[in-house]
Amino acid sequence: MSSEESDVVLKVENLRAFYTSKRGLVRAVNRVSFEVRRGEIFGLFGESGSGKTSIALAILGLFDDVSRYYASSSSSDENKRLWELRERVTDKSNASEEVGEDLPGVEGHIWFKGQDLVKLIEDEFRRIRGDRITYIPQGTTKSLNPYSKIVEQTAEPLFAHDETGKLSEKGVIRRVIKALDLVELGDAILRKDMKPSQFSVGEDQRVLMAMALVTVPDLVIADEPTTAVDMAIQNRILEAIQLARDELGLSMLLISNNQTTINATCDRIAVMTAGHIVEIGTTKRVLGNPGHPFTRAFIMSNPSMEAIKKIREKGLRIRGIPGQAPDNTQPIIGCPFSERCDFVIDKCREIQPELREVDDGHKVMCHRYEELPEW
Ligand SMILES: Nc1ncnc2c1ncn2[C@@H]1O[C@H](COP(=O)(O)OP(=O)(O)OP(=O)(O)O)[C@@H](O)[C@H]1O
Ligand code: SF4
Ligand SMILES: [Mg+2]
Repeated sequence: MSSEESDVVLKVENLRAFYTSKRGLVRAVNRVSFEVRRGEIFGLFGESGSGKTSIALAILGLFDDVSRYYASSSSSDENKRLWELRERVTDKSNASEEVGEDLPGVEGHIWFKGQDLVKLIEDEFRRIRGDRITYIPQGTTKSLNPYSKIVEQTAEPLFAHDETGKLSEKGVIRRVIKALDLVELGDAILRKDMKPSQFSVGEDQRVLMAMALVTVPDLVIADEPTTAVDMAIQNRILEAIQLARDELGLSMLLISNNQTTINATCDRIAVMTAGHIVEIGTTKRVLGNPGHPFTRAFIMSNPSMEAIKKIREKGLRIRGIPGQAPDNTQPIIGCPFSERCDFVIDKCREIQPELREVDDGHKVMCHRYEELPEW
């Protein structure tokens, strides 16, 4: 392994994740690749329904269960048939190709500490999830237990992964207080014995973050960590995320459709639409000088204060993205943005562009990148 690769905590390769639903197969994630480096905050930035949470679920080994749920609870024989077919395939990473038709579930590779997570069985996953990889789920204000003390809830992940049974109470409390301090709960020593009902929404959110940090994981996945809270609390949560990274040196996958959140926290980002990554690069580059027509349209549709200034300077106007994202129950032929792109040509509808490097570390998935007007 080269030194560059040993700096990589998570490497996602050709990841594909399909749900079964009443409408048939939902192609939520289509062959995406990216990596999260040690000590880096990497952002997944994209419109609603573009597949961000589905990627998180795949990394956490939860996608197949969520995806299978509808098939098992419904009377759809077709969905059941697809899952049965998949169970029979030995190579999960390449199941659809082996069978010769599209199958539900996760395919591709998710490399983490030398292991391909796509191939792990649930018992192996349980050791990693909540310990080495932790998750702050989307819209989480209700996931704390109102009857249990903060200290007990924050310590839960430590006890859940204490395979030797050697954890001391003192050591656990020390680690819990450190985690609560990191998320800047304030008066952690005193307040650790309180219950969630005595806390505000923003404080609850920070306790959930502390639970995700207490094991000092290799990777934290934070899904829209600021959606349920107001601006002032958003800023404190973003500060806590950065502090946690600086103090613990951890790596984070941060999911958001909010430019301000992404801009304030992420070192590099991947931009998503319709289950595809269409641009990857440093946050500064991608938000400051976006290369892909979708990224440009997405920034314009919901601009940050900084972007509004730039849009006005250029005499452009803020507008939503015209049209609708493609129907993800159908395979996408060509560019996933072709139905909504101002620069579309016939080739875009016929051939899917490659996500190609256009500058050092900056990749764009567009046939016409070189011909686009300057941003
Ligand atoms: N359990 C499910 N069964 C079927 N389809 C689903 C399921 N969960 C999500 N989807 C679909 O998969 C696609 C990707 O959804 P996902 O939740 O990953 O998007 P997202 O980028 O996280 O969106 P948001 O920003 O709204 O959270 C969407 O079309 C969504 O409707
Ligand atoms: S490939 Fe074509 S349709 Fe897709 S973003 Fe580029 S110009 Fe637009
Ligand atoms: Mg989501």
